[in-house]
Amino acid sequence: MAILGVADHSSSSSSSHGPQKQQQLTSATCKEPAASPESSKEEEEELKGVRHLCERGITALPPRYVLPPSDRPAPAPARGIPVIDLGRLRSPVASERAAELAAMDAACRDLGFFQVVNHGGVDSAMMLDVARRFFALPQEERERHMSPDIRAPVRYGTSFNQLNDGVLCWRDFLKLLCNPAKMDDVVPSWPHNPADLREVMSSYARANQRLFRELISAALEAMGITGGGVLEELDNGTQMMMVNCFPACPEPDLTLGMPPHSDYGFLTILLQDQVNGLEVNDGQDWLLVDPLPGALIVNVGDHLEIFSNGRYKSVLHRVRVNSTRSRISVASLHSLPSERVIGPAPELLADGIPRRYLDTDLATFLDYLSSAEGKHKTFLQSRRITLPSS
Ligand code: OGA
Ligand code: NI
Repeated sequence: MAILGVADHSSSSSSSHGPQKQQQLTSATCKEPAASPESSKEEEEELKGVRHLCERGITALPPRYVLPPSDRPAPAPARGIPVIDLGRLRSPVASERAAELAAMDAACRDLGFFQVVNHGGVDSAMMLDVARRFFALPQEERERHMSPDIRAPVRYGTSFNQLNDGVLCWRDFLKLLCNPAKMDDVVPSWPHNPADLREVMSSYARANQRLFRELISAALEAMGITGGGVLEELDNGTQMMMVNCFPACPEPDLTLGMPPHSDYGFLTILLQDQVNGLEVNDGQDWLLVDPLPGALIVNVGDHLEIFSNGRYKSVLHRVRVNSTRSRISVASLHSLPSERVIGPAPELLADGIPRRYLDTDLATFLDYLSSAEGKHKTFLQSRRITLPSS
């Protein structure tokens, strides 16, 4: 079941999150096996997703979605995050470009999140529109893409880590694997309803590949990593697109759309509609991200924190929901090939600088998720090397 976390999110899930996960595990462990035909029927209905629950006309949050009080969202201050202007990053004026590169480097070191404007070439409006039309299809149509095969290149599902979550999340999703070198092979297995889904979503995915390449090239340059062929490896790496739907929720203060988690890869590019909901933890507080109109949100993932030897931060984030408006978001997660062992870049370990992370690969991540350790800390914490304080 742990594999679900990888296959569904490529994120080091709320298993990352000590106290919360313990509570989740407790509630999962304490849950009685389906006591009556009614309760197993109810569970079956819940696994069909939250849109389905809404369509059945529920007016209260079912018990399995209710978080323990300490994990519930409190009102959070809205916050603009650092803005990176791609026009300036492409500027032929060296000083302008250098200043923008420095701003991006600072955002990755500090908050681990920034927003990109003037990105051109990414058709966000069409992507959101087709996503909305997909989630508006009848349940029977969406259900066709529900799969017991967690590695299926296309999969419709609900919650965060459906079979593992003690408390369910108020979220349905369509997961599309779209590794850059394999796009032509996978797109024919994507939903053909709505009729323009494959065309719109594959062209959006490709635009994200180009944007990712541009951003990660800049990040590598900012860190002084010029050799090693990482960019070429990334061209043959993994990309997963999570198309998320968070319907209006009858009791939004008792639950979350996604629990606190960090993303697994190098960078995540996130598109959301005009409804806010993403909250980022700045080390102390949860801040509600309030992006500029048309901006894409970008965050550092676990692999980049490790690869950068801790210079860049993969930060916990979560999603809150609201009682009046449904929200759509699209997260595109980009990383190296899944078989690649990831450790700090050699360039960053020159001159006796100590390595701060153990090497990692997919098998290590899976072992960690099923280990006792996985219940108490984040995956990233499990890879950190504690250096003797000088
Ligand atoms: C994700 C994620 C945030 C959002 O899909 O990993 O963090 O606002 N999404 O939907
Ligand atoms: Ni995320």
